[in-house]
Amino acid sequence: MGISNIVILTGAGISAESGLQTFRAADGLWEGHRVEDVATPEAFDRNPVLVHQFYDARRERLGEVEPNAAHLALARLDAEWPGELLIVTQNVDDLHERAGAKRLLHMHGELNRGWCVSCDERFGWAGAMKPSSGAEPVEAPSFSDAAKKQEQPFDKLRTNGNICPACGETGSVRPDIVWFGEMPYEMERIEAALMEADLFVSIGTSGAVYPAAGFVQTARYRGARTLEINLEPSQGSLSFDERRYGRASELVPQWVAEMLG
Ligand code: APR
Repeated sequence: MGISNIVILTGAGISAESGLQTFRAADGLWEGHRVEDVATPEAFDRNPVLVHQFYDARRERLGEVEPNAAHLALARLDAEWPGELLIVTQNVDDLHERAGAKRLLHMHGELNRGWCVSCDERFGWAGAMKPSSGAEPVEAPSFSDAAKKQEQPFDKLRTNGNICPACGETGSVRPDIVWFGEMPYEMERIEAALMEADLFVSIGTSGAVYPAAGFVQTARYRGARTLEINLEPSQGSLSFDERRYGRASELVPQWVAEMLG
């Protein structure tokens, strides 16, 4: 069967060689924290300052890392592949887009976006999100004004402290990240792409978190060929037709070169 439609799922392993820690490190902690203390809505209710500090540090770290050869290879595939292609990433970093990928979807949200729980608006976010204690609130740039003027794209707006750029509320912005117990983004679009896929490729993910861990089954059900590229066998490795183990920065460029002939 010829391959036209490709769906690629990526996880933390693709960004590991850029210097971003994966989630399930040997010590079971994520940057020194238990996942339940920083990546659940309950954790945010309990201790918003800790959660903000945690994600502010992750966001800041993005400025210190660069896409690696695996991100660049996928961006090349995206640019040159004549058929349908969708990169679904579980990663909240921006390394795929900085490498140049366009047909990309962040199913677990993005570090560089905020979500106002007061007005339900989502927007680009740079800098710290933790409310600055004692600091005078700075007047937030208004969404509608910026959009009207079109001088500054909304996504580039930056506020000082935690002020919603859409409604002006103070302290109501949370990271636009899908936490445990929350519904991943764009599931309908992902399911539709999987149902049309001829090839499903999973890169750098442990296969421990659903629904992403189940994508291989959906793709198989549709009759797609399935390939796993990872440092070691994932939890669902036996579901894949083909398995390649090693570093993403080596295996992904090799695979892309094969695909583009
Ligand atoms: N090249 C390829 N694979 C690698 C590399 C590398 N250089 N380094 C690590 N890996 C593999 C690991 O072997 C592991 O199987 O990447 C995988 C990373 O797994 P996790 O840390 O569990 O990350 P991920 O699968 O993306 O986690 C899924 O869990 O905590 C949540 O929402 C969070 O999106 C995340 C989700």
